[in-house]
Amino acid sequence: MANHDEAWGRVDEFLGATLIPEDPALAEVHRSNARAGLPPIDVAPNQGKLLNLLAQLAGARRILEVGTLGGYSTIWLARALPPDGRLITLEIDPRHAEVARANVDHAGVRERVEIRVGAALQSLAALADEHAEAFDLVFIDADKQNNAAYVRAALGMSHPGTVIVVDNVVRGGAILDAQPDPTAAGSREVLELLGAEPSLDATALQTVGAKGWDGLAIAPAHRQRCPGKAVVGGCTFSATFQLPARTAQSASAWTAMSRTASASARSSAARHATAQSSSTRTASRAADFGSVTGNGTV
Ligand code: SAH
Ligand code: DHB
Ligand code: MG
Repeated sequence: MANHDEAWGRVDEFLGATLIPEDPALAEVHRSNARAGLPPIDVAPNQGKLLNLLAQLAGARRILEVGTLGGYSTIWLARALPPDGRLITLEIDPRHAEVARANVDHAGVRERVEIRVGAALQSLAALADEHAEAFDLVFIDADKQNNAAYVRAALGMSHPGTVIVVDNVVRGGAILDAQPDPTAAGSREVLELLGAEPSLDATALQTVGAKGWDGLAIAPAHRQRCPGKAVVGGCTFSATFQLPARTAQSASAWTAMSRTASASARSSAARHATAQSSSTRTASRAADFGSVTGNGTV
Protein backbone atom coordinates (compact mmCIF):
# COMPACT_ATOMS: atom_id res chain seq x y z
CA MET A 1 0.00 0.00 0.00
CA ALA A 2 2.38 2.64 -1.25
CA ASN A 3 -0.28 5.27 -1.74
CA HIS A 4 -1.19 6.22 1.78
CA ASP A 5 -4.10 8.44 0.81
CA GLU A 6 -5.77 5.59 -1.00
CA ALA A 7 -4.99 3.07 1.75
CA TRP A 8 -6.28 5.40 4.44
CA GLY A 9 -9.48 5.89 2.47
CA ARG A 10 -9.94 2.15 2.09
CA VAL A 11 -9.35 1.58 5.79
CA ASP A 12 -11.91 4.29 6.59
CA GLU A 13 -14.40 2.45 4.40
CA PHE A 14 -13.59 -0.81 6.19
CA LEU A 15 -13.99 0.81 9.61
CA GLY A 16 -17.32 2.25 8.52
CA ALA A 17 -18.56 -1.04 7.08
CA THR A 18 -17.38 -3.00 10.12
CA LEU A 19 -18.37 -0.72 12.98
CA ILE A 20 -21.15 1.50 11.72
CA PRO A 21 -24.32 -0.07 10.39
CA GLU A 22 -25.79 1.30 7.15
CA ASP A 23 -28.06 4.11 8.09
CA PRO A 24 -30.76 5.22 5.64
CA ALA A 25 -31.31 8.62 7.27
CA LEU A 26 -27.61 9.50 7.24
CA ALA A 27 -27.19 8.19 3.68
CA GLU A 28 -30.05 10.46 2.69
CA VAL A 29 -28.25 13.44 4.25
CA HIS A 30 -25.33 12.85 1.90
CA ARG A 31 -27.69 12.60 -1.07
CA SER A 32 -29.74 15.64 -0.19
CA ASN A 33 -26.63 17.73 0.54
CA ALA A 34 -25.21 16.77 -2.86
CA ARG A 35 -28.53 17.59 -4.61
CA ALA A 36 -28.50 21.03 -2.97
CA GLY A 37 -24.88 21.62 -3.95
CA LEU A 38 -23.52 21.73 -0.39
CA PRO A 39 -19.78 21.01 -0.13
CA PRO A 40 -18.97 17.46 1.10
CA ILE A 41 -17.20 18.69 4.22
CA ASP A 42 -19.34 16.99 6.84
CA VAL A 43 -17.50 14.80 9.33
CA ALA A 44 -16.73 11.22 8.22
CA PRO A 45 -19.03 8.45 9.51
CA ASN A 46 -16.47 7.22 12.06
CA GLN A 47 -16.03 10.81 13.30
CA GLY A 48 -19.79 11.29 13.50
CA LYS A 49 -20.00 8.17 15.58
CA LEU A 50 -17.13 9.39 17.76
CA LEU A 51 -19.15 12.55 18.46
CA ASN A 52 -22.18 10.41 19.27
CA LEU A 53 -20.17 8.24 21.68
CA LEU A 54 -18.55 11.24 23.36
CA ALA A 55 -22.00 12.74 23.91
CA GLN A 56 -23.21 9.46 25.37
CA LEU A 57 -20.15 9.14 27.62
CA ALA A 58 -20.71 12.70 28.81
CA GLY A 59 -24.35 11.88 29.53
CA ALA A 60 -25.14 14.93 27.43
CA ARG A 61 -28.57 16.50 27.76
CA ARG A 62 -27.67 19.81 26.18
CA ILE A 63 -25.44 20.09 23.13
CA LEU A 64 -24.22 23.14 21.23
CA GLU A 65 -22.90 22.89 17.67
CA VAL A 66 -21.22 25.69 15.75
CA GLY A 67 -21.45 24.99 11.99
CA THR A 68 -24.43 22.92 10.83
CA LEU A 69 -23.99 22.48 7.05
CA GLY A 70 -26.63 19.86 6.14
CA GLY A 71 -26.98 18.51 9.66
CA TYR A 72 -24.92 15.33 9.30
CA SER A 73 -22.95 15.79 12.54
CA THR A 74 -26.07 17.35 14.09
CA ILE A 75 -27.99 14.11 13.61
CA TRP A 76 -25.18 11.96 15.02
CA LEU A 77 -25.07 14.19 18.10
CA ALA A 78 -28.84 14.54 18.50
CA ARG A 79 -29.22 10.77 18.50
CA ALA A 80 -27.12 10.59 21.67
CA LEU A 81 -29.62 12.77 23.54
CA PRO A 82 -32.39 11.49 25.78
CA PRO A 83 -35.94 12.36 24.58
CA ASP A 84 -35.97 15.59 26.60
CA GLY A 85 -32.43 16.51 25.50
CA ARG A 86 -31.79 19.54 23.31
CA LEU A 87 -29.24 20.47 20.66
CA ILE A 88 -28.79 24.02 19.39
CA THR A 89 -26.83 24.31 16.14
CA LEU A 90 -25.59 27.59 14.62
CA GLU A 91 -25.36 28.17 10.88
CA ILE A 92 -24.69 31.34 8.93
CA ASP A 93 -26.01 30.22 5.54
CA PRO A 94 -29.82 30.10 5.35
CA ARG A 95 -29.64 27.65 2.44
CA HIS A 96 -27.54 25.22 4.48
CA ALA A 97 -29.94 25.64 7.39
CA GLU A 98 -32.91 24.83 5.17
CA VAL A 99 -31.30 21.64 3.89
CA ALA A 100 -30.33 20.73 7.45
CA ARG A 101 -33.89 21.31 8.67
CA ALA A 102 -35.25 18.83 6.12
CA ASN A 103 -32.52 16.30 6.95
CA VAL A 104 -33.08 16.63 10.70
CA ASP A 105 -36.85 16.18 10.21
CA HIS A 106 -36.29 13.14 8.01
CA ALA A 107 -33.97 11.60 10.60
CA GLY A 108 -36.69 11.91 13.24
CA VAL A 109 -34.80 14.16 15.66
CA ARG A 110 -36.74 17.36 14.94
CA GLU A 111 -38.00 17.75 18.53
CA ARG A 112 -34.48 17.77 19.92
CA VAL A 113 -32.83 20.13 17.41
CA GLU A 114 -33.00 23.90 17.09
CA ILE A 115 -31.19 25.49 14.14
CA ARG A 116 -30.30 29.16 14.60
CA VAL A 117 -29.40 31.07 11.45
CA GLY A 118 -26.83 33.84 11.72
CA ALA A 119 -23.15 34.53 12.30
CA ALA A 120 -22.15 32.22 15.12
CA LEU A 121 -20.39 34.93 17.12
CA GLN A 122 -23.66 36.86 17.29
CA SER A 123 -25.74 33.77 18.00
CA LEU A 124 -23.33 32.83 20.80
CA ALA A 125 -23.59 36.28 22.33
CA ALA A 126 -27.39 36.02 22.20
CA LEU A 127 -27.27 32.55 23.76
CA ALA A 128 -25.06 33.78 26.59
CA ASP A 129 -27.51 36.62 27.22
CA GLU A 130 -30.33 34.10 27.51
CA HIS A 131 -28.54 32.57 30.49
CA ALA A 132 -29.55 29.17 29.24
CA GLU A 133 -28.57 26.03 31.10
CA ALA A 134 -24.89 25.18 30.56
CA PHE A 135 -24.07 22.84 27.68
CA ASP A 136 -22.68 19.35 28.28
CA LEU A 137 -20.93 19.10 24.91
CA VAL A 138 -19.91 21.74 22.38
CA PHE A 139 -18.83 20.82 18.84
CA ILE A 140 -17.04 23.60 16.98
CA ASP A 141 -16.93 23.12 13.20
CA ALA A 142 -17.56 26.41 11.36
CA ASP A 143 -15.20 29.11 10.04
CA LYS A 144 -11.80 28.25 11.45
CA GLN A 145 -10.68 31.90 11.83
CA ASN A 146 -13.09 32.27 14.73
CA ASN A 147 -12.21 28.97 16.42
CA ALA A 148 -10.56 30.59 19.43
CA ALA A 149 -13.47 33.00 19.90
CA TYR A 150 -15.89 30.06 19.73
CA VAL A 151 -13.97 28.18 22.41
CA ARG A 152 -13.98 31.25 24.66
CA ALA A 153 -17.72 31.66 24.16
CA ALA A 154 -18.24 27.95 24.82
CA LEU A 155 -16.30 28.21 28.08
CA GLY A 156 -18.74 30.83 29.31
CA MET A 157 -21.61 28.38 28.76
CA SER A 158 -19.88 25.31 30.16
CA HIS A 159 -19.81 23.50 33.48
CA PRO A 160 -17.00 21.38 34.91
CA GLY A 161 -16.67 18.46 32.54
CA THR A 162 -18.36 20.02 29.50
CA VAL A 163 -16.70 18.36 26.52
CA ILE A 164 -15.48 20.84 23.93
CA VAL A 165 -14.59 19.29 20.56
CA VAL A 166 -12.95 21.27 17.76
CA ASP A 167 -12.82 19.91 14.20
CA ASN A 168 -10.15 20.51 11.55
CA VAL A 169 -7.25 21.44 13.79
CA VAL A 170 -4.53 20.03 11.51
CA ARG A 171 -5.50 21.06 7.96
CA GLY A 172 -3.11 18.76 6.13
CA GLY A 173 -0.27 20.04 8.31
CA ALA A 174 -0.81 23.66 7.18
CA ILE A 175 -1.00 24.75 10.83
CA LEU A 176 2.81 24.54 10.81
CA ASP A 177 3.29 26.65 7.67
CA ALA A 178 5.53 29.67 8.15
CA GLN A 179 2.74 31.79 6.71
CA PRO A 180 -0.43 29.77 7.31
CA ASP A 181 -3.57 30.75 5.45
CA PRO A 182 -6.25 32.30 7.68
CA THR A 183 -8.09 29.02 8.27
CA ALA A 184 -4.91 27.14 9.23
CA ALA A 185 -3.92 30.11 11.40
CA GLY A 186 -7.28 29.86 13.18
CA SER A 187 -6.80 26.15 13.74
CA ARG A 188 -3.33 26.65 15.14
CA GLU A 189 -4.50 29.52 17.33
CA VAL A 190 -7.21 27.39 18.88
CA LEU A 191 -4.70 24.65 19.71
CA GLU A 192 -2.49 27.23 21.40
CA LEU A 193 -5.49 28.48 23.35
CA LEU A 194 -6.43 24.94 24.42
CA GLY A 195 -2.87 24.44 25.64
CA ALA A 196 -2.65 27.74 27.49
CA GLU A 197 -6.12 28.22 28.95
CA PRO A 198 -6.08 27.19 32.62
CA SER A 199 -9.73 26.16 32.56
CA LEU A 200 -9.21 23.61 29.77
CA ASP A 201 -7.39 20.32 29.62
CA ALA A 202 -6.93 19.15 26.05
CA THR A 203 -5.51 16.74 23.56
CA ALA A 204 -5.66 16.54 19.79
CA LEU A 205 -5.45 13.63 17.38
CA GLN A 206 -4.52 13.66 13.73
CA THR A 207 -7.02 11.96 11.47
CA VAL A 208 -6.60 10.48 8.01
CA GLY A 209 -8.95 8.72 5.64
CA ALA A 210 -12.08 9.73 3.80
CA LYS A 211 -11.68 13.43 4.66
CA GLY A 212 -7.94 13.71 4.02
CA TRP A 213 -5.37 14.63 6.65
CA ASP A 214 -6.81 16.68 9.46
CA GLY A 215 -7.40 16.46 13.19
CA LEU A 216 -9.75 16.73 16.10
CA ALA A 217 -9.18 18.38 19.48
CA ILE A 218 -11.00 17.32 22.63
CA ALA A 219 -11.01 19.49 25.72
CA PRO A 220 -13.06 18.99 28.86
CA ALA A 221 -13.73 22.36 30.49
CA HIS A 222 -13.29 23.62 34.02
CA ARG A 223 -11.68 20.54 35.48
CA GLN A 224 -8.38 20.16 37.19
CA ARG A 225 -5.41 20.01 34.88
CA CYS A 226 -3.20 17.03 35.46
CA PRO A 227 -0.63 17.13 32.68
CA GLY A 228 0.55 13.57 32.70
CA LYS A 229 2.67 13.70 35.82
CA ALA A 230 1.95 11.50 38.77
CA VAL A 231 1.40 13.82 41.69
CA VAL A 232 1.15 12.12 45.04
CA GLY A 233 -1.99 13.41 46.67
CA GLY A 234 -3.62 14.56 43.45
CA CYS A 235 -3.28 17.21 40.78
CA THR A 236 -3.14 20.89 41.35
CA PHE A 237 -5.88 22.75 39.65
CA SER A 238 -6.52 26.31 38.82
CA ALA A 239 -9.70 27.03 36.97
CA THR A 240 -11.92 29.95 36.29
CA PHE A 241 -15.47 29.41 35.28
CA GLN A 242 -18.71 31.27 35.06
CA LEU A 243 -22.07 30.09 36.23
CA PRO A 244 -25.10 31.36 34.37
CA ALA A 245 -27.40 32.36 37.21
CA ARG A 246 -30.31 30.10 36.26
CA THR A 247 -28.06 27.13 35.74
CA ALA A 248 -26.75 27.41 39.24
CA GLN A 249 -30.32 27.09 40.49
CA SER A 250 -31.53 24.34 38.18
CA ALA A 251 -28.71 21.81 38.18
CA SER A 252 -28.13 20.45 41.65
CA ALA A 253 -24.81 18.77 40.93
CA TRP A 254 -23.58 21.97 39.38
CA THR A 255 -24.76 23.94 42.38
CA ALA A 256 -22.94 21.59 44.73
CA MET A 257 -19.83 21.89 42.61
CA SER A 258 -20.00 25.65 42.64
CA ARG A 259 -20.39 25.66 46.42
CA THR A 260 -17.31 23.51 46.82
CA ALA A 261 -15.41 25.66 44.38
CA SER A 262 -16.64 28.84 46.05
CA ALA A 263 -15.53 27.62 49.44
CA SER A 264 -12.04 26.78 48.27
CA ALA A 265 -11.93 29.84 46.06
CA ARG A 266 -12.95 32.29 48.73
CA SER A 267 -9.69 32.05 50.60
CA SER A 268 -7.50 32.19 47.51
CA ALA A 269 -9.56 34.10 44.96
CA ALA A 270 -8.37 37.46 46.16
CA ARG A 271 -4.77 36.37 45.85
CA HIS A 272 -5.11 34.59 42.53
CA ALA A 273 -7.97 36.06 40.53
CA THR A 274 -6.12 39.01 39.13
CA ALA A 275 -3.25 36.81 38.02
CA GLN A 276 -5.47 34.69 35.81
CA SER A 277 -5.86 35.74 32.23
CA SER A 278 -9.26 34.10 31.82
CA SER A 279 -10.72 36.03 34.71
CA THR A 280 -9.52 39.20 33.07
CA ARG A 281 -11.03 38.15 29.77
CA THR A 282 -14.39 37.37 31.30
CA ALA A 283 -14.45 40.27 33.70
CA SER A 284 -16.82 42.21 31.47
CA ARG A 285 -19.40 39.48 31.97
CA ALA A 286 -19.08 39.51 35.73
CA ALA A 287 -22.40 41.31 36.09
CA ASP A 288 -24.22 38.55 34.18
CA PHE A 289 -22.46 35.51 35.54
CA GLY A 290 -21.61 34.47 39.04
CA SER A 291 -17.89 34.11 38.60
CA VAL A 292 -16.11 31.49 40.64
CA THR A 293 -12.38 31.20 40.66
CA GLY A 294 -11.17 27.92 42.04
CA ASN A 295 -7.61 27.26 43.03
CA GLY A 296 -6.37 24.45 45.16
CA THR A 297 -5.45 20.81 45.31
CA VAL A 298 -7.69 17.81 44.88
N1 SAH B 1 -20.67 20.17 11.24
C1 SAH B 1 -21.04 19.88 9.86
C2 SAH B 1 -20.09 20.52 8.88
C3 SAH B 1 -20.00 22.01 9.02
S1 SAH B 1 -19.18 22.74 7.65
C4 SAH B 1 -21.01 18.37 9.67
O1 SAH B 1 -20.03 17.73 10.06
O2 SAH B 1 -21.97 17.82 9.12
C5 SAH B 1 -19.03 24.38 8.23
C6 SAH B 1 -20.35 25.15 8.28
O3 SAH B 1 -20.11 26.33 9.02
C7 SAH B 1 -20.87 25.59 6.90
O4 SAH B 1 -22.20 25.20 6.72
C8 SAH B 1 -20.76 27.10 6.94
O5 SAH B 1 -21.80 27.78 6.24
C9 SAH B 1 -20.85 27.37 8.42
N2 SAH B 1 -20.26 28.66 8.82
C10 SAH B 1 -19.20 29.29 8.28
N3 SAH B 1 -18.97 30.46 8.90
C11 SAH B 1 -19.91 30.57 9.85
C12 SAH B 1 -20.20 31.55 10.84
N4 SAH B 1 -19.48 32.66 10.96
N5 SAH B 1 -21.25 31.34 11.67
C13 SAH B 1 -21.98 30.20 11.58
N6 SAH B 1 -21.75 29.24 10.68
C14 SAH B 1 -20.73 29.42 9.83
C1 DHB C 1 -13.71 22.64 5.53
C2 DHB C 1 -14.50 22.80 6.64
C3 DHB C 1 -14.73 21.75 7.47
O1 DHB C 1 -15.48 21.87 8.59
C4 DHB C 1 -14.20 20.51 7.20
O2 DHB C 1 -14.45 19.49 8.06
C5 DHB C 1 -13.42 20.33 6.09
C6 DHB C 1 -13.18 21.39 5.25
C7 DHB C 1 -13.44 23.77 4.63
O3 DHB C 1 -14.00 24.84 4.88
O4 DHB C 1 -12.68 23.59 3.70
MG1 MG D 1 -15.24 20.15 9.92
